[in-house]
Amino acid sequence: MSQTLFSPLQLNGSSLNNRIVMAPMTRCRALGNVPNDLIATYYAQRATAGLIVTEGTSPSPNGLGYARIPGIYNDAQIEGWKKTTKAVHEKGGKIFLQIMHTGRVSHSANMPAGSKIVAPSAISADGNMWTDSQGMQKTEMPEAMTTAEVKSTIQEYVQAAKNAIAAGFDGVEIHSANGYLPNQFLNPGSNVRTDEYGGSTENRCRFVLEIAQQTADAIGSEKTGIRFSPYNPFNAMQQFDETFETYDYLSKELNKMGIAYIHLLDASARVIEEGLELIAKIRENFDGIYILNAGYDKERATHALSTEEADMIAFGTKFISNPDLPYRFKNDLELAAPDQNTFYTADAVGYTDYPFSEN
Ligand SMILES: Cc1cc2nc3c(=O)[nH]c(=O)nc-3n(C[C@H](O)[C@H](O)[C@H](O)COP(=O)(O)O)c2cc1C
Repeated sequence: MSQTLFSPLQLNGSSLNNRIVMAPMTRCRALGNVPNDLIATYYAQRATAGLIVTEGTSPSPNGLGYARIPGIYNDAQIEGWKKTTKAVHEKGGKIFLQIMHTGRVSHSANMPAGSKIVAPSAISADGNMWTDSQGMQKTEMPEAMTTAEVKSTIQEYVQAAKNAIAAGFDGVEIHSANGYLPNQFLNPGSNVRTDEYGGSTENRCRFVLEIAQQTADAIGSEKTGIRFSPYNPFNAMQQFDETFETYDYLSKELNKMGIAYIHLLDASARVIEEGLELIAKIRENFDGIYILNAGYDKERATHALSTEEADMIAFGTKFISNPDLPYRFKNDLELAAPDQNTFYTADAVGYTDYPFSEN
């Protein structure tokens, strides 16, 4: 029988409620970069997802490029996240923490004292960035990391993953998509390093693969997932000739590690022939769970699962405004539209006040 959104699936040796993933979404409610009760309520409301992936969470003070995003590098943050994992588990859900280091997509007004903006190379993202104290600002020029700093940043990821497990998460997702630090290493437009972390495809992939390997060693490969967005120009990622080769190589190497899943933002790949081939090639290379995302509705998702193009489908904006999205899908109920004005505001409005279906 062909798979549907509600066919059973094992992750981490336990069964998921369904094949619906809540996509990672930055919501900027972590005042002081510490997760709070409001955040726990928000995720608990959405615990009927087969898997929740949290908002991007920084492994380092240097990775806090946006206002009010959470971290996972100190005790207060670990304690804060325990509220979320407990609340989600009490509702029978599963939750992975997304580890996100913003790298050059950053402004110092958002970052704590003593931190600095780092990237593979001193090349600006040349974008705009909201700051609470100075309004909209230009992203700032990053400092190129020394080789020693690259290695210590990898250790920050590994420690973050251990902290996530200590906070009760079921696993972590390494955010290597959307132009953040790992993606900055993968792309030759933002990485012109001449050490072992730049140049050839193998070298550009080294940062990501060392994080993945050492995370898998530290917390278990079955608790380690990763997110990619090939061909996506978001955050000033340039198109480059070796894109196919890069992700082909990454997926083969990640398969050897036996990590739990690859989560692919496929929208930019889907509009070009080479990208369509890459989506299929990653599927072929990788034996773990394959999650696809971006712009899916129930019909498209059901099709992708029934044809075995993917094992799970992630939904972003639909989960913002429909806390009971799986129930609505199951019963073919109408979906509420999200209010974009409250995506990144600081309080409960447009966050925990979307109603559940009355049916
Ligand atoms: C408000 C908002 C915040 C987001 N933050 C993140 C993030 O922290 N990490 C990430 O990997 N993707 C992030 N994304 C991208 C989503 O995970 C997802 O890829 C995107 O919304 C497309 O899926 P959809 O069409 O189902 O909404 C964000 C998207 C939105 C709308």
